Amino acid sequence: MLRILKSFAAVGIAIGALTAAAHAADIKIGFVVKQPEEPWFQDEWKFADIAAKEKGFTLVKIGAEDGEKVQSAIDNLGAQGAQGFIICTPDVKLGPGIVAKAEANGLKLMTVDDRLVNADGSPIEAVPHMGISALKIGEAVGAAIADEIKKRGWDMASVGAIRVSYDQLPTAVDRVEGAISSLKAAGFPEANIFDAPQAKTDTEAALNAATVVLNKHADVKHWVAFGLNDEAVLGAVRASETVGITPDNFIGVGIGGADSAINEFKKPAATGFFGTVIISPKRHGYETALNMYEWVANDKAPPALTLTAGELALRDTYVEVRKNLGIE
Ligand code: GLA
Repeated sequence: MLRILKSFAAVGIAIGALTAAAHAADIKIGFVVKQPEEPWFQDEWKFADIAAKEKGFTLVKIGAEDGEKVQSAIDNLGAQGAQGFIICTPDVKLGPGIVAKAEANGLKLMTVDDRLVNADGSPIEAVPHMGISALKIGEAVGAAIADEIKKRGWDMASVGAIRVSYDQLPTAVDRVEGAISSLKAAGFPEANIFDAPQAKTDTEAALNAATVVLNKHADVKHWVAFGLNDEAVLGAVRASETVGITPDNFIGVGIGGADSAINEFKKPAATGFFGTVIISPKRHGYETALNMYEWVANDKAPPALTLTAGELALRDTYVEVRKNLGIE
């Protein structure tokens, strides 16, 4: 009798394992990003793919650069029989619409990088989110710039700062305000900080915005720059080059650490792109995909809010920092 029971149990376990496997294969998760060509998002997808392979679910990667594309991406996921998706939206104000569309399609929803907001600008707290610790990381950017200003022996009063801004995005505001607070704490005069609003969050838009500032203050010799991400700061660096400012007179520190920054560090001679605070596409891609999988497969909801850290990297330290973060 015992033997019969045992074999029943064994069969039960085998069937259980089989259904679990079949179940994972039925799971389809979307990963929607606002700027698919940006190396940061390519890396997020890359790490999300690793999670999909490990767990055996299907990952559907969709680029959605505007609200209309977001709407059709969500409908498309619903029609394909997906159970949930992770999104970095092109516009956080689409928040209530995205929540409604996800619900209408029976999809679980989690956000990454850019947190959805309500009509009044407050974050939609019901949607689980993973973002960076924007203020802290911004402060690290500002501190790195202030240290380097001192090292170069510049007089703070004679330095101009380019605040490459994208103020419609709360995390962008927190990042640049963090940088400004560190600069001010180090004695940087607020009057020397010039706003360079970018129309889009890419290098070209930042180049255009920074060029306006540099042309307006052509008498300033030393410059520093900070912004939302590496692309923003690279735009300011390219702008400085076009007006003939040399790297020894420019200190740009970005946020990201993906290929846009690494390619700059790999150039034979240093440019005005002095450093970057490397953040983790592994956590943002792999972990969010895994979170969503656990939610769909095992009904384990993701943490309501996860804020990830960053680490400063320069030309001669980035290889090691990347290694430490597991993102080589
Ligand atoms: C925003 C930026 C990206 C990247 C992420 C990181 O979405 O646009 O470049 O910095 O935040 O969370």
